[in-house]
Amino acid sequence: MSRSADGGLEALFAAAKAAREQAYAPYSKFLVGAAIRAPSGAVYSGCNVENAAYPQGACAEAGAISAMALAGERKIVEIVVVGDGEGLCTPCGGCRQRIREFADASTRIHVAGLAGVRASFSLDELLPRSFGPGHLGK
Ligand code: THU
Repeated sequence: MSRSADGGLEALFAAAKAAREQAYAPYSKFLVGAAIRAPSGAVYSGCNVENAAYPQGACAEAGAISAMALAGERKIVEIVVVGDGEGLCTPCGGCRQRIREFADASTRIHVAGLAGVRASFSLDELLPRSFGPGHLGK
């Protein structure tokens, strides 16, 4: 399959935006979608799923990472996170750590609004001096 000029980023954004439309966020009303591209080229997406017991809610990134792991993949090449609003919908602290588990120096973390990608970061920019599998000898 030939790859588009943007390396597939537009398709990854579309997957994240479609995932966002499935978000279950009756409490915050803040819908989030995420889509991961893994080394195979496959795309895994997730949405936030809130809960009446508020702390039990799950972020969109967590769902996308679960789908990726279920498929047997262990590396995030790039991830797009889509949220509406003025401020950039950068991954929360917990999700930065979740992404870190499957990231390396080349992983790109794209933050998007409804119209497209607004900013892109490396993991080190979002979570400097982080703790990871290497600290456990893994
Ligand atoms: N949320 C995500 O899904 N990902 C993030 O990185 C930031 C926050 C969700 C959690 C909650 O359902 C809603 O956005 C408001 O915080």
